[in-house]
Amino acid sequence: MTNKSFMTLDEFTIQQLRLFPGGTGELSRLLRDIGLASKRINVEVNKAGLQDIIGNFGTTNIQGEEVKKLDMLANNQLRNVLRSGMSCAGVCSEEENEIIVFDDELSNNSKYVVLFDPLDGSSNIDTNITIGTIFSIFKRVTPLGTPCTIADFLQEGHKQVAAGYVIYGSSTMLVYATRLGVNGFTLDPSIGEFCLSHPEIACPSEGNTYSVNESNYACFPEGVRAYLDSLKEGNRKKEGTYSLRYAGSMVADLHRNLIKGGIFLYPGTTEKASGKLRLMYECNPFAYIYKMAGGKANDGKQDILNIVPLDIHERSPLFVGSKEMMEDLETFLA
Ligand code: AHG
Repeated sequence: MTNKSFMTLDEFTIQQLRLFPGGTGELSRLLRDIGLASKRINVEVNKAGLQDIIGNFGTTNIQGEEVKKLDMLANNQLRNVLRSGMSCAGVCSEEENEIIVFDDELSNNSKYVVLFDPLDGSSNIDTNITIGTIFSIFKRVTPLGTPCTIADFLQEGHKQVAAGYVIYGSSTMLVYATRLGVNGFTLDPSIGEFCLSHPEIACPSEGNTYSVNESNYACFPEGVRAYLDSLKEGNRKKEGTYSLRYAGSMVADLHRNLIKGGIFLYPGTTEKASGKLRLMYECNPFAYIYKMAGGKANDGKQDILNIVPLDIHERSPLFVGSKEMMEDLETFLA
């Protein structure tokens, strides 16, 4: 096999910047910072079993969930790298109760704020299953030169300027979307750089896979149950049945479905009408990535990207996937 030369993440973002002559390079610097933080997280994830970083940190987050040691480590890496990079005005994390306003002269003059789930699927950490980091970037609505506020974060998903994820799997990849499209970069450990391996990702309009925690079937809305039944009975839109694939780590499930086609469902239940997933850290970024790759996402009633958020930690049902599978689901939910 010959060694091809792949463009690095930095080279790629600089090339994209050339398409916008007035661009300041701030977004490129932010992506570089997120790339740097995730390389550091990747190092810790890779040797987790050898260090005392598996298990619980000993606290619960604002959602009432046990915080893992690696959750905290990843959270601090992202927060610290983004603070010292001075290319964003503040951050908001699934693991923090409040937004973090950087409030120094350079940061206050930054155009962007970043939201992230530092380590999604963290209940899988102890068993060495694929986990990920998810991020979302908004342009501020408050004036430059002032500290950012909660209003900069509480924006509808369609206002994201970029969103992405890092998957710590059999290889480590960073995938991000802007209105120019979706591109995937594989970490080359020999040079410590993310390299463009999956240019212009397009989600196939159909797939063979559905991903859902079916143990909750009895508590799902009727339309969702009818749709799941149809997938197993031999769906009218496709010959044969589908395969169920569910890692319990949405980065893993959604990465596979993005590349191969498929649908992911995390509906509300009779007990938890809004489901489990967080709008700002999980639903919005993936809805944006899928939209830019040709797929669709909704909450059962409306496009995820049109939801007006009222709270940084709010939850939402999520249905996201290949365009035709989503349209089929919509006929059942209607
Ligand atoms: P956590 O980070 O607490 O492990 O949550 C993971 C999220 C998401 O990644 C995954 O798809 C979903 O929760 C799994 O939830 P269930 O266990 O309820 O299926």
